[in-house]
Amino acid sequence: MRKIAVIGTGYVGLVSGTCFADIGNRVICCDVDEQKIAKLLRGEIPIYEPGLSELVARNTEQGRLFFTTEIGEAIEASDIIYIAVGTPMSETGEADMRYVMSAAKKIGEHLNNYKIIVNKSTVPVGTGELVREVIQANKKTPWIQFDVVSNPEFLREGSAIADCMSMDRAVIGSDNPKAAEVIADLHAPFNTRIFTTDLESAEMIKYAANTFLATKISFINAIANICERVGANVGDVAEGMGLDSRIGSKFLQAGIGYGGSCFPKDTYALAHISDKAGYDFELLKSVIRTNTRQRLVIMDKLRDAVGGLAGKHVAVLGLSFKPETDDMRYAPSLTIIPELIKQHASVYAYDPIAEESAKRELPEGIHYCSNIEQAVTNADVCIILTEWKDVLTMDLARIGQLMKNPILIDGRNCFDLTTMASSSFEYHSIGRPPVNRAGRDRHSVNF
Ligand code: UDX
Repeated sequence: MRKIAVIGTGYVGLVSGTCFADIGNRVICCDVDEQKIAKLLRGEIPIYEPGLSELVARNTEQGRLFFTTEIGEAIEASDIIYIAVGTPMSETGEADMRYVMSAAKKIGEHLNNYKIIVNKSTVPVGTGELVREVIQANKKTPWIQFDVVSNPEFLREGSAIADCMSMDRAVIGSDNPKAAEVIADLHAPFNTRIFTTDLESAEMIKYAANTFLATKISFINAIANICERVGANVGDVAEGMGLDSRIGSKFLQAGIGYGGSCFPKDTYALAHISDKAGYDFELLKSVIRTNTRQRLVIMDKLRDAVGGLAGKHVAVLGLSFKPETDDMRYAPSLTIIPELIKQHASVYAYDPIAEESAKRELPEGIHYCSNIEQAVTNADVCIILTEWKDVLTMDLARIGQLMKNPILIDGRNCFDLTTMASSSFEYHSIGRPPVNRAGRDRHSVNF
């Protein structure tokens, strides 16, 4: 049993802290946000993450998980301190390191015995060293020792608990093998492989992994755009490519681009880091541009299928950046819906979970609907932005009857073309031939 303080109760801190408690450690999660801590103390979870609420309740009841705003006390009472504060994108695209630095200062001020400081926030290479310097400069007792370790997170929203309990690998970077060993032992109950390296390489692994995944997505989206022009089917292309074990089948799902809290931020941050280091990472900059453009393919398809949007009833299914989360950060809906409004469409939006967080981010004038049927009734066109389960399983025949014009523009390739060919829908998806396209070449495609 270890005594762990986790500074920052955002997504990463809360999930990791709760999982560390669940495997038997005593964990104090702290935050400067009093309202957030008050909520957590009442048993309310500030984010939507399947299974998290139950796990927090179980571990608080069993006396392993605590919440506080008294960060200093939490540091003093613990022997491992996780820094899991946000590193949001600043205006220049760099990671904003303000919160990491203030956590480091606080740790220095409250360093009352040997501790291991673990960085979980995604930070530029070299931050571990900087954290060490800040702690060193702020500690009150010169002879007290500490070590700094980098242990980046790879959790996916929506499946964060399962990912944490059984991660592909735990990356542990440190210049002191003994400190690395303590953090490796901490991970022993998780079903995972441990990979140890130096501080800088661990920090780099996080950026390299996320930007590589983002590259895979932009790559397949670019292939999808070519497929549309040459009459190929990107689903088959991705499947055929993925059979090569060197490529792998994952992260080759074409769509309207990646969003969320990590990929947009980390791609910008690494482009910045490389510029600063004197290397022009053209490939990554192109990945970012491809992703930005990809959101707007929906607008091209709308123009193609319905022409002008003024006065048209557009049903929008899904608002969050992906299913099983209420996270709206860099969600494609944040680009597409304002564009629809700008073109004077009437937007009827449905999302099973993210409606409240969407209202905070999206402009006024959207009709929020409590179910799919409400959103599509009398619609001129329906667009899918998030592949929620209830969208994937919706009754297409019924939806087609409710719409004024059964035109479906699917930004997530939720349905197979054979199913759509035998439906009443004119169906447009990403990187695949249109089906039952009205007027011009309406036909049932034989696949
Ligand atoms: C990601 C990483 O997977 C995780 O390891 C990291 O720590 C945080 O960032 P997350 O943002 O939760 O996790 O979502 P993920 O499931 O990876 O999807 C990211 C985005 O890529 C979503 O917008 C998703 O719609 C998109 N995506 C994913 C695709 O467009 N195609 C794919 O094939 C896969």
